[in-house]
Formats: sequence, structure tokens, C-alpha cells
Amino acid sequence: MVGGGSTYTPELVDGFARLRGELPVSELALIDPDPRRLELVAGMARRMLAHAGHPARVLATSSAAEGVAGAAVVLFQLRVGGQAARELDETVPGRCGCVGQETTGAGGLAKALRTVPVVLSIAETVRKHAPDAWIVDFTNPVGIVTRALLDAGHRAIGLCNVAIGFQRRFAAWLGADPSRVSLGHVGLNHLSWERAVFLDGADVLPALLERHGAELAAMVGLRPGLPARLGAVPSYYLRYFYAHDEVVREQRAAPSRASEVAALEERLLELYADPAVVTKPELLAGRGGAFYSEAAVALIASLLGDRRDVQVVNVRNGGTLPFLPEEAVIEVPAVVGAAGARPLPVPPVEPLYAGLIGHVSAYETLALEAAVHGGADRVRAALLAHPLVGQDDLAEELTALLLEAGRAHLPWA
Ligand code: G6P
Ligand code: MN
Repeated sequence: MVGGGSTYTPELVDGFARLRGELPVSELALIDPDPRRLELVAGMARRMLAHAGHPARVLATSSAAEGVAGAAVVLFQLRVGGQAARELDETVPGRCGCVGQETTGAGGLAKALRTVPVVLSIAETVRKHAPDAWIVDFTNPVGIVTRALLDAGHRAIGLCNVAIGFQRRFAAWLGADPSRVSLGHVGLNHLSWERAVFLDGADVLPALLERHGAELAAMVGLRPGLPARLGAVPSYYLRYFYAHDEVVREQRAAPSRASEVAALEERLLELYADPAVVTKPELLAGRGGAFYSEAAVALIASLLGDRRDVQVVNVRNGGTLPFLPEEAVIEVPAVVGAAGARPLPVPPVEPLYAGLIGHVSAYETLALEAAVHGGADRVRAALLAHPLVGQDDLAEELTALLLEAGRAHLPWA
């Protein structure tokens, strides 16, 4: 696990412990440049595994080469610059009246700029020391980072918990085991819609919308009638588009998510330091990563065990969404086996979604170019291409602000 000192690590360890029948883990290597976090999280991981009677060893190291050597799978969950850098992603765009979010809009671009080069450099270490390993990327922005990895020829798949979160919620409402429920999920990472919900193969979304439409809208922060009107459930990241100005107003009055998470992390690290704490603390549920562990275990088990089941992942488009370039990375249901993830055919996408998907996908292409090659002009072009920026004066102003704020992590700026 690259970024193994993340406070999320115990979520994954909990999954490895609970789901060991599905995925027999023999060794977990936590790689992190921060010695304090690494020690606390590794200690917690060891206690959790021992408590569960799980035989896996835990290696804690600051060396990516040592950590990935011989690995079957390398999980990327690093966060360049930590919550302090995220704070800037979330607050700088607001100075221009734009939404401040760590994966969406100008903030997402800032995160991509500092993250992609680090990810690509560690991926080279993986290529050298674990050439057969799969890279499973949780590092945001997942769509852009996955595309960067694939373009550089790595065996990578991007993963997010938005889809599994919906799947588990729908299964609970249906009173069904989650294995019976699958999604007609379409879009990009953090720009997706559920256009169908299949229970044993039959689409039950219309009934769910009738029964739970208002609740669903509240869950994703949108007005009560919207999901029913669309006949689809937008993910809560669509709120930054469909309710942009409202979010900007709210953000002016509220503390940033980064500051909340920073405080939560301090309390989590205190718990991880406590030898009496041997299971995943309740407090971790205060973070956004619900079901991460389940999604990760399922994906890894299918890659290594050639299970060829269907999971929602971030993969190369190919011809799946014909209105996007083949090289784009999309988030759709895919068959996952030893050869990787092969997207299933997707029914034609309505203009209402296709327009936005195409727009943001084009932005992602430009964002990746800016992240890989640097340069204020490329940053400005990406901002101009983003539907939440889109105006020349804004793009110019935000370019200056983002580069100034992000300088510590951008060698070229
Ligand atoms: C969800 C998203 C992740 C994101 C997380 C943020 O899980 O799918 O991509 O990183 O929320 O959670 P946080 O607790 O850091 O705000
Ligand atoms: Mn995500």
C-alpha cells in the first residue's frame, strides 16, 4: 500500500481480515514517507490482524522499492501534500466564485498537477521491482491518475467507492444480498449516474425511485424531485454541477472538509496509538471511504483469481462510449479477471449525460497534459475546458492562484 500511513489503511486491513476466505493475504507492506503515521498505522494493522487471527505479516517502510518487491498487487492511496494541500484545493477556487473540491473543478486540477508525477514515478519503481503486479489506484483524481498510469503502460485499474456505496444502499432497501444487485452505472470517476438497478437481472430502479426518490435526492444533496425526473440517480459529485452556486454559497460559510478531516485524523491516530484498540474504530466511519475495503478485496480477488465477475471500475474506454476517444478512462461495469477489466457494453447515453461526460473527459485529457508536461499555458487550457470554469478571465486568474498556492509541490511552477 503506497500511502500506507493513511488513516484509511485500517479500513482495508479490516476488509482483508473479514474477507480472508476470498483473498488470502500473506504480507502487507505499508509504504509511507511519514515515519509517525507509518509507525502508528502499522501498529494498528498488526493488532487488528493478530486480533482476527490473521497470519499476514506487516512490513512498514519508507522505501517504495523495498515495499513493492515481490508484490502481487500494489494499492495507490497516497495523498501528496496531505490535508494541508487539500485545504488549498478546497479554498482557492472560492476566491473566484468557483466551487472548491479536491477532485472536481479547479481544485481537482490542482490535485492532479501535484499527484500525477509522484504516482508515475512510484509506478516506475513498481515496474522495476514488481513487474507482474497489478496497480489498483484509489489516489484521486482517479480518472486522470488511472489514465496517466495506462498511458505509461502500467497494469492499472482505478477504483472508487461511489458505485459500491449505491449498490449496498439499494440492496439494503431491497432487503436483498448485495450479490443479487448490480448497477447500470455510467460516466467518469466522480461524474456518474445510476441509470438502472438490477435485482436478479431485472431493473428495479423505477420502483426504487418511486419509494425512495426523495431520500435518494437527499443522500446526494440534490432537490427532491430530480432523480425521479431524470429516471436516474446522479452521484453526489454531480451536486457540484447541478447545484454549483448553492455549494459555493455553503462553502463560504462552512469549514473546509480538509480541516474536518485533519481533525478527525488526529483523533484516529490517537486511537491507532492505543494498544487496547484492536479493531477498526467507529470514528473511521466519519470519513468518506465506506465499503472501500469490500470494493478493493473484490477487485483484487477477481484479478488474481480470474473470477470474471462484474465490478464498476475505471478503465480505458475503447469503444464503450462511442462519443469519447478510445484512450479516455471511464467508470463503468466491467468483467474483471486475470487479464484485467473489460468494460461491458453500455446502452446509448442520453445527451443530458453525454454532453457533460464529453466535456469533463476533454478537460481530463488537458489536465493530464498539464500534469505531465507542466506549464501555465497548459493549466490555463485545462481550466478553460472545464465546464465549472470555462471563462477566459477566470481561467487566467485561477491559473495564477493555483500555481502560486501549489508551488511547494510543483517543481516547474
Ligand atoms: C469518497 C470518494 C473518495 C474520496 C473520499 C473523501 O470515498 O469516493 O474518492 O477520497 O470520499 O473522503 P474524506 O473523508 O477524505 O472527505
Ligand atoms: Mn472516489
